[in-house]
Amino acid sequence: MRRTLILLSAFFLSAVGAKAGVWETNCAGCHNGVVAPTKSSLLSKFHTKREFMAKVREMVTQGKMPPGLSYGKAARELFGAKGAVHHSGKGLKKRVAAHKATKVASASDPYAKYKKFFKPLPALPPIPADNSLTPEKVKLGKMLYYDPRLSRSKLISCNTCHNIALGGDDNQKTSLGDHWKTGGRNAPTTLNSGFLKVQFWDGRAPTLEEQAKGPLQAHVEMNSTPEIVVRRLKAIPEYVKLFKKAFPGEKDPITFENVVKAIAAFERTLNTPNSPFQRYLLGDTNALTKEQKEGMALFVKYGCTACHNGPVLSDGRFHRLKWNNDTGRYRVTKNPADKYKFRTPQLLNVAVTAPYFHDGSVNSLKKAVKIMAEKELGKKLTDDEAKKIADFLRSLTGEVPLEARVLPQLPGNNPR
Ligand code: HEC
Ligand code: HEC
Ligand code: HEC
Repeated sequence: MRRTLILLSAFFLSAVGAKAGVWETNCAGCHNGVVAPTKSSLLSKFHTKREFMAKVREMVTQGKMPPGLSYGKAARELFGAKGAVHHSGKGLKKRVAAHKATKVASASDPYAKYKKFFKPLPALPPIPADNSLTPEKVKLGKMLYYDPRLSRSKLISCNTCHNIALGGDDNQKTSLGDHWKTGGRNAPTTLNSGFLKVQFWDGRAPTLEEQAKGPLQAHVEMNSTPEIVVRRLKAIPEYVKLFKKAFPGEKDPITFENVVKAIAAFERTLNTPNSPFQRYLLGDTNALTKEQKEGMALFVKYGCTACHNGPVLSDGRFHRLKWNNDTGRYRVTKNPADKYKFRTPQLLNVAVTAPYFHDGSVNSLKKAVKIMAEKELGKKLTDDEAKKIADFLRSLTGEVPLEARVLPQLPGNNPR
């Protein structure tokens, strides 16, 4: 049901007609060369619009791409009106006209001035030099992310608590892990997590690689050890092959370090482009409702952007929220000045990742907005203002790459 909804909304949203260019808004997020081929490689492979569209239909039928993403329009952008690769004069005139139309539209949008406080989501987060992003690594990382055999009980995978089909989290107050123990904190989403400057509510891991070592070993999560993980993977011949491909030239590629590298590489592809807000930032004036635009203006006016800024609306810094007896950042640094401080969470997809705050104690987005205004900014919002800001935050829900949501075929048997 949920998947149908996502696909349906993708259909209706794309039917609105994005002025920023269908390729940029609907395709580029997946077609970045990792999940799917880049624009330039498509242009060198397909020479006519007809050939291109035949392939697109095949991909959609096979479930590799979602239906209804305005493929025809994208093809016209790439090939020009006549359909040849080298853009005809007509195609160019059309593009110039479309460009002018965007300008006129933005002149009539009184909220356009608020755009400068925000950044559109890039196709990929920064990639560390020692863990390059390759399709082989991403494929392996996806399997490991979904594989419960990495946990001691063989029952819990990353996807148990960070369900990619459910917004990248578990929608629980606090997560249940090994032997149904709970860790006392709410599971944040793994979607767009590659854009975060530090990981965890208290920032105790600097990178996704370091982060992934945590849950694999935490008693309240997967309760495993590097030895168990490596032993089980080595017993599955298919994994031996996949590690060789993902880490070419390494003699003994199944190591704990490489397990977390592959998982992190996969996580860096879990980005959600094409939210209504993203399309608005890229020039589609009609992508937001009037209430959402008013909410955006209030979000800027009240100063939420002081902390919620950058491509995922998190400054990656620590701010005080005395909420319960969880001392937050202080647990990591032991510096009294860090007591009750938490890293600003991202706000992309926040509408589908309830409940809120580090202990998951608040269910309603509107209520979370009111608490923020009061605790962080000393302002009391009216119901109407809070509702508009929450409406704006709902426009931050993007599209999870279909490829990541489709369950992988896990190889092998059930090693000890
Ligand atoms: C949710 C992610 C996603 C989106 C969005 C997406 N694609 Fe794709 N696309 C894929 C995947 C995955 C493949 C298959 C890659 C493979 O199997 O080699 C693919 C393949 C293709 C191919 C065939 C490539 C080849 O070499 O045979 C074309 C053409 C294509 N896409 C065009 C588009 C266009 C145009 C759009 C935007 C209107 C788009 N795609 C949006 C994921 C996506
Ligand atoms: C039992 C549930 C559970 C499992 C299993 C689990 N996590 Fe988590 N994850 C959490 C919780 C809870 C937090 C927040 C903990 C904290 O901040 O102290 C978290 C935090 C994270 C974060 C940080 C996101 C942010 O916004 O800071 C990432 C990334 C992440 N997990 C990825 C993974 C990966 C990868 C795996 C598998 C190797 C995994 N998790 C397994 C519950 C889980
Ligand atoms: C001084 C920095 C700061 C300001 C200003 C700020 N926030 Fe936050 N925001 C945070 C921090 C830190 C958290 C995490 C608090 C926690 O869970 O302990 C947070 C959490 C949230 C959450 C919950 C997200 C989740 O996934 O649990 C929402 C929603 C939110 N803020 C919206 C807003 C809005 C709307 C405003 C403006 C009215 C705002 N924030 C102003 C720092 C800030």
